[in-house]
Amino acid sequence: MYEQVSHSMLNDILNRLKDEISEQDLRHFYTRLGANFYAIHSLFHRLYGKRPDFEAQAQRLVETMARQYIRRPEALRQIDIEREKDYNWFLHQRWTGMALYCKGFAGTVKGMENHLNYFQELGVNLVHILPLMKCPKDENDGGYAVSDFRQIDPELGSLKDIASLSKRMHERGMLLALDVVLNHTSNQHDWSLRAKAGEKKYQDYYYTFTNRTVPDMFEQSMPEVFPETAPGNFTWDEEMQRWVMTVFNHYQWDLNYTNPAVLIEILDIILYWANQGADILRLDAVAFLWKKIGSTCQNEREAHLILQLLKDCSQVTAPGVLFIAEAIVAPVEVTKYFGEDAVIAKECEIAYNATLMALLWDAIATKNAKLLTHGITSVPVKLERATWLNYIRCHDDIGLGFDNQDIERAGYDPGPHRRYLIDYFTGKFSDSYARGVPFGHNERTGDARIAGSMASLVGLEYALSADDPKAIDDSILMILLVHSVLLSFGGIPLLYYGDEIGTLNDYSYRAEPAKSGDSRWVHRPQFDWERATRRSEPGTVEFRIFTALKRMIAVRSEIEVFADFNNRELIDVKNPHLFVYERYHLHARNESVLVINNFDGKSQSVDLSQLGHWGQTAYGHLTDLHTGQDPDIINNTLVVPPYGFCWLSEMR
Ligand code: GLC
Repeated sequence: MYEQVSHSMLNDILNRLKDEISEQDLRHFYTRLGANFYAIHSLFHRLYGKRPDFEAQAQRLVETMARQYIRRPEALRQIDIEREKDYNWFLHQRWTGMALYCKGFAGTVKGMENHLNYFQELGVNLVHILPLMKCPKDENDGGYAVSDFRQIDPELGSLKDIASLSKRMHERGMLLALDVVLNHTSNQHDWSLRAKAGEKKYQDYYYTFTNRTVPDMFEQSMPEVFPETAPGNFTWDEEMQRWVMTVFNHYQWDLNYTNPAVLIEILDIILYWANQGADILRLDAVAFLWKKIGSTCQNEREAHLILQLLKDCSQVTAPGVLFIAEAIVAPVEVTKYFGEDAVIAKECEIAYNATLMALLWDAIATKNAKLLTHGITSVPVKLERATWLNYIRCHDDIGLGFDNQDIERAGYDPGPHRRYLIDYFTGKFSDSYARGVPFGHNERTGDARIAGSMASLVGLEYALSADDPKAIDDSILMILLVHSVLLSFGGIPLLYYGDEIGTLNDYSYRAEPAKSGDSRWVHRPQFDWERATRRSEPGTVEFRIFTALKRMIAVRSEIEVFADFNNRELIDVKNPHLFVYERYHLHARNESVLVINNFDGKSQSVDLSQLGHWGQTAYGHLTDLHTGQDPDIINNTLVVPPYGFCWLSEMR
């Protein structure tokens, strides 16, 4: 019965749209809409079914999909069709990404085109440009406070430049990823300006209140995201004479998704960017999409329904486009952003692996993989047709978001252990060469996070200033070790711009009033192209890191078992310094690669005879795919050098 309701509704909607779209070849659109409409209707009904304007809103939703389909460039429609056929395309091991700020890396979008060779030299074929939509000059949260969702920052170029960049990238077999900031707008966005001016329609786009009654209720259970710089979750707007919900900074107004008009606007924006040529859209702060009194206002069930709905609608208009979930939340929550079912309740194909990221930093600080191993084991298995984005640094801070129980199982006390890590990475101990900067210290909870570039956090900044060759070597080894995990673990590795040449902290933000309060700017540098030329001079730090990464990326892209089909098994080798796993072929278990990562500053050994078939094939039959050499094996014991790693394969 329910299905019939949705069908007859679809027919009505299409009839009404007929005049507008009859000229168009809508074959694919109709087929996809037919296939997805039942799910779309049910989700939309669950979220908004009680509203008297439900039908009218549903009609607008379908119109939005149809209009954007009509506008979708033919070349992108063709890509959609190819990807629909080869639907696991993004799980392949050939993809390696890099995230960057357009301004910091290339100055402008046009400038990006001139640097495509650089990515290809390194082996990077997926580029995530951090937000470039129009923002206020100062209060912009690094691009995450958008004042116009359909324009890019004029200093960076124009929409034409984006289309051209996407075209050039596609010609080279590269993917473009862009941000859609869907949880909030800048307080300078047209919607907020009109809300301030008293337009009820736009006040309903946000959570606004005349007095503190509701805000106080919310705040009883809502944590603070930026406790130092933006305490609380509501801001009084003088002009509007109302409180408005601002979970992040006071100038970022949270959108109200209980209003279907908001969801439809955002869907339109998502499809708009899909049509500008983005292959992947990073959906920012998705855990925050639904607010409920009495909850933390994160990871609510409705936030998932919204994402399922956005996915289903985008499957109709732009099915080749993938979503990345940026949900930096507890391990048990994060896998939910892939959806509940790969076919009927899909959300995002890709999610940030913040758990792995934080655990890797723990392994660096403690020189062992105890917590890493426990922590990874408690991440639930993800869906098929879903993959992780494995990263070590990004434009944000490092939050120590692992589970307290895992910390205990690794033999530590959670409170003191977290404090130890913060102190370690901010260089408080004499034996720590890390040069991180604290971020987001919360006086009330004692919680803190860390900012800093990869190289500075592993001691390269200290080592260079102290002119200490051993410390320089160690920091380079640590950079490579962590990338060994990112590249072999399963998922899309996402490098962060500058890490490939050992870029250090950039303290210049401290002199800029609009940035000085936000220490994340310490690792959002202006890329130093002059330094980058040293990547071709043997012996330099830049050369050592760049060439090793380049080799690892090239090797990874050839190793089939590194594709992500949930084909990994962690192996306990009874040596806490080692993080070991096997990547195997789903249909031929004996075709596998054994990855061994040593987080200790001393050599460590593994008795291969403990490791099933690896013990039997040890003598002269193993090769390290990364070096292309035989590994050091003495009497069936493999030796892994300090901060070293190997990707072992049986020779055939
Ligand atoms: C995301 C972004 C972060 C930003 C926040 C608010 O977490 O990665 O940089 O501050 O959203 O938009």
